Amino acid sequence: HSFKDRVVAVALAAARELGFTVLACPSTGNLANAVAAAAARAGIRSFVFIPSDLEQQKVVTSAVYGTTLVAVEGNYDDVNRLASELAGQHEDWAFVNVNVRPYYAEGSKTLGYETAEQLGWRLPGQVVIPVASGAQLVKVDKAFGELTKLGLVEGERPTIFGAQAEGCSPVSAAFKDGHNVVKPVRPDTIAKSLAIGNPADGPYVLDVTRRTGGAVEDVTDGEVVEGIRLLARTEGIFAETAGGVTVAVLAKLLRDGKLDPDADTVIFNTGEGLKTLDAVAPVVGPAGTIAPTTEAFRALVPEA
Ligand SMILES: Cc1ncc(COP(=O)(O)O)c(C=O)c1O
Repeated sequence: HSFKDRVVAVALAAARELGFTVLACPSTGNLANAVAAAAARAGIRSFVFIPSDLEQQKVVTSAVYGTTLVAVEGNYDDVNRLASELAGQHEDWAFVNVNVRPYYAEGSKTLGYETAEQLGWRLPGQVVIPVASGAQLVKVDKAFGELTKLGLVEGERPTIFGAQAEGCSPVSAAFKDGHNVVKPVRPDTIAKSLAIGNPADGPYVLDVTRRTGGAVEDVTDGEVVEGIRLLARTEGIFAETAGGVTVAVLAKLLRDGKLDPDADTVIFNTGEGLKTLDAVAPVVGPAGTIAPTTEAFRALVPEA
């Protein structure tokens, strides 16, 4: 139910080839789902570490696969530190985004391949990609580069934009300040899947977005909710909060004149809305509750 299934597919294949016997990860939620499901399918033991304040939907949709799910008191960066320590102590455990991270990250290239394929083997002019650790954005750019090098596509490399939530926007802040280093932050946003305060690939996101003439932008939690609703209303796609961040950043970039409205633009919706119901539950619902009579319906919707 998110793009993390792709990265885990590659990491799991590598882990088995390298002789690891257990699959594990620290996660902001979606990777937890993907590791738990992939390990169940592969018939191997898994350990999944999550922040204890994660959305209930992500807890349930991970635990159901029978993984050993460990809720850790702290934010993702605390969970990640614990996972790194455990990776040092358990030589046969493959933490997909720690000790087999190079393979995991390459899995994100499939989003770039699929984009070119769906456009009839050409590249878009611009792309907008959500950023947590930054691995996805960096690897999509790598995918576009490889397709070009292989002669499968021609023309300019796309301009790449990164999308973050204001409550966890260390890469956007570094971009705007003109810095090459990313200063860690304490996350506070409803976009929990993107809540990585100390992003491993942050500096590379700055390189890619600057090299391609793009930018990294951030939006408020209110804009995230509006982004989710806009995508649902206009496209029939229910995104999780990361998708809301991406749609809202697209709108902001357009408003600010940073994105060319005439260029082919692709935005990546990387996770599904059923996992973050709490974000939209307070602002959507039935038009009303009525008695089962036509009169009551007409009273509720006089124009129908
Ligand atoms: C739905 C969703 N989109 C995007 C991302 C960002 O991925 P990355 O850490 O590669 O930047 C995540 C990361 O957890 C995610 O869960």
